[in-house]
Amino acid sequence: MHDAPRHEFDQDYWDRHWSQRRGPGERAPHPHLARETAGLAPGTALDAGCGTGTEALWLAARGWRVTGVDIAARALRLAAERAAALPHPGSVEWVEADLTTWEPGRRFDLVTTAYAHPAMPHRDFYRRLADWVAPGGTLLIVGHLHTDTARADHPAPALVTLADLTASVAPLRIETAEEHTRTVDGPGGHRHVLRDAVVRAARPR
Ligand SMILES: C[S@@+](CC[C@H](N)C(=O)[O-])C[C@H]1O[C@@H](n2cnc3c(N)ncnc32)[C@H](O)[C@@H]1O
Repeated sequence: MHDAPRHEFDQDYWDRHWSQRRGPGERAPHPHLARETAGLAPGTALDAGCGTGTEALWLAARGWRVTGVDIAARALRLAAERAAALPHPGSVEWVEADLTTWEPGRRFDLVTTAYAHPAMPHRDFYRRLADWVAPGGTLLIVGHLHTDTARADHPAPALVTLADLTASVAPLRIETAEEHTRTVDGPGGHRHVLRDAVVRAARPR
């Protein structure tokens, strides 16, 4: 995501991003997913900007009935291939759609998104996701944390603060608002540090 001089995050940008990938890029789900969903009973889940499906498949394997939405057809093709190769992929449906305009026509027990940053102001995007949470359901957002040094790794529109996120998801009840630092293996075995903003919020019943 650091190669283009401008970052408009439209469909062309994401199609290019995924067409440069040889494969799905096997990795573990981000650690916030297991921690933040540990107390939840599986139900319906939406992974908004699911990429090649790592988190969606993790949820499906644990009994969630998952809808994975992404704007990039190639990412979804890779996700579907991964699912097809699993002995027990669980219930997962892949939907090619632009989340800035898509209307699910239903609500979900869990709406989750990680690093999606579409071509829309964060506040409007996360407000849309919050609307799709069912009564008693949960919204989990993971974003690249805005720090003084983060600009070197991520373009400014990809960065969020906890204040951005918590302001966006009202009237949901904030249950987690945390900053985390973790080290991940990147392409070519290079380790790099990720600073995450993590917000979990619930819609009262
Ligand atoms: C940085 S990737 C993150 C993918 C995955 N969630 C992860 O954590 O690896 C952002 C994803 O959001 C998708 N995306 C960006 N804008 C979108 C939009 N408007 N509608 C649907 N998906 C979008 C991209 O295609 C891409 O797969």
